Amino acid sequence: MAERALSMPDLTARKKAGEKLVVLTCYDALFARMLDAAGIDMLLVGDSVHQLLGGNANTLGATLDQMIYHAAAVRRGTTNALIVVDLPFLSYQASIEDAIRNSGRVLAETGCHAVKLEGGGAMVPTVQALVDRGIPVVGHLGLTPQSINQLGGYRVQGRTNAIADALHEDAVDLEGAGASAIVLELVPQELGRSISSALRIPTIGIGAGPGCDGQVLVLHDMLGLNADFTPKFLKRYADLAGTVSSAVREYAAEVRAGTYPDASHSFD
Ligand code: KIV
Repeated sequence: MAERALSMPDLTARKKAGEKLVVLTCYDALFARMLDAAGIDMLLVGDSVHQLLGGNANTLGATLDQMIYHAAAVRRGTTNALIVVDLPFLSYQASIEDAIRNSGRVLAETGCHAVKLEGGGAMVPTVQALVDRGIPVVGHLGLTPQSINQLGGYRVQGRTNAIADALHEDAVDLEGAGASAIVLELVPQELGRSISSALRIPTIGIGAGPGCDGQVLVLHDMLGLNADFTPKFLKRYADLAGTVSSAVREYAAEVRAGTYPDASHSFD
């Protein structure tokens, strides 16, 4: 089997070489093929799938079986990119044993390369236990969507010194426990920069400023498919909602007018 362009242990060397990591979410084989061919370094099978594709208000209801279904599809569409899979809510928080069994299922049943879990503090021994058992882990700090009820909303975290210091400490502890990288979501850019410079492992920012070692965006948001979602950090690189809308309107008009299908789209 051909060597992959990048492996989880290479991430620290990439940071040392000053090369930014390019990460996008991905939930299916079709997009995985396109993102992989475009040279995206890492695909994140995020539990945001439960919101974006499932139409739910938050990520809390995503299940392990759903994540495995999407992750296996992404794996089938990918040749080079690293694939990290979100552990859904309650698949790892209740016990270290749950975390090991569920992460093991993700890697064994999908062929993906690492799991991502949210939180510092209480999660540090869990990260250590997973890494000790050969399961690469990406951490996630700042706005942690699985704690949305405790955080009270999707807002920037770490604006006070106390919370900024706690996030800093969590990041250092996750690195100490063996995490391969840390997603930093919605933190002030100065905090993103200072956490990144305190770590050997890369940070992957989303709404965490340019000082992070890589960036991740939700694919459907950056493609402009999720038209109502307009946070400050999001840059839209396309307007696919507009493209889809005009395509389906044109199709509907042609079907109603009887101009589709024409002879060139019909069999003799
Ligand atoms: O679930 C997800 O898509 C994520 C990203 C927002 C980082 O965790």
